[in-house]
Amino acid sequence: MNKVSVIGSGAMGTGIAQIAATNGVEVTLYDNNEDALNRAGSRLEKIMNRLVEKGRLSEEDATGILSRVELTPDLGRVEDSDMVVEAIVENLDIKKQVFRKIENLVSDHCILASNTSSLSIASIASACEKRERVIGLHFFNPAPLMPLVEIIPAITTNPELVDTLRQLMLDWGKSPAVAKDTPGFIVNRVARPFYSEAIRMYEEGIAEPETIDHAMKELGFRMGPFELMDFIGHDVNYTVTETVFKEFYFDPRYRPSFTQKRLVEAGLLGRKSGRGFYNYAE
Ligand code: NAI
Repeated sequence: MNKVSVIGSGAMGTGIAQIAATNGVEVTLYDNNEDALNRAGSRLEKIMNRLVEKGRLSEEDATGILSRVELTPDLGRVEDSDMVVEAIVENLDIKKQVFRKIENLVSDHCILASNTSSLSIASIASACEKRERVIGLHFFNPAPLMPLVEIIPAITTNPELVDTLRQLMLDWGKSPAVAKDTPGFIVNRVARPFYSEAIRMYEEGIAEPETIDHAMKELGFRMGPFELMDFIGHDVNYTVTETVFKEFYFDPRYRPSFTQKRLVEAGLLGRKSGRGFYNYAE
């Protein structure tokens, strides 16, 4: 794997770009929003500086990693990639449009992967001519720190691709888990009730977010459900819940909540916007 392109330079795309570049791969990080690209560039620099300060990375390695990441608003730069990982907004129609465009730019051997949290890989692949090269490759936030990566072949994916990606993830120091192409795959399905039951308890006045988070952390979870939703971003988290709910034929176990919907509508997306269940300006 010589070159990987990452589509979408948000939280996930930037993390995935960092992982690939750290593993010696040339990376093209594309976004259609210049501000997002600038933010990604500063975020990567800041992370590299921090790793150097902490003695986890030499200055030389940090410079090497940064030099391997090309930030660009030009989608054409994906052309000579061995793999493209898409990490844009969680919207099926937009993802399909982007996959269609990318397929026309890359060579036949290029793997097309989506970092979607909940959308059907089969429907994303249906936008492509060569569907056998389309697969789910689902990293977790923050991608450089979380070892788990779900690999999700669609019904149309070439089964050999699973082994290729499993080996690549092991080479990149990740811990892959293969899951079927069903809503939420493994983690986002198991995690739905973690979030929704916590919000329900808050809505029922049983306990405040701080108390619920405290209880869960004292039990051993690294973050409580409210902190975690604020960290993930309510726009992303709500959309995933909504998708899983719809895709499971409106099974009430996955019903989204008005409380979270209102946060999204108000732009209170969590850490990234400065306020969600908690206020980060304080
Ligand atoms: P984000 O909102 O931080 O970043 C998305 C980026 O995509 C933005 O920079 C935006 O400008 C760009 N974008 C949107 N439409 C585009 C287009 N048509 N062409 C090019 N760029 C476009 O979102 P985040 O959190 O990075 O999520 C991205 C994907 O990763 C989603 O599919 C999400 O479900 C998935 N994901 C998110 C996780 C999380 O905890 N936030 C965890 C695992 C997966």
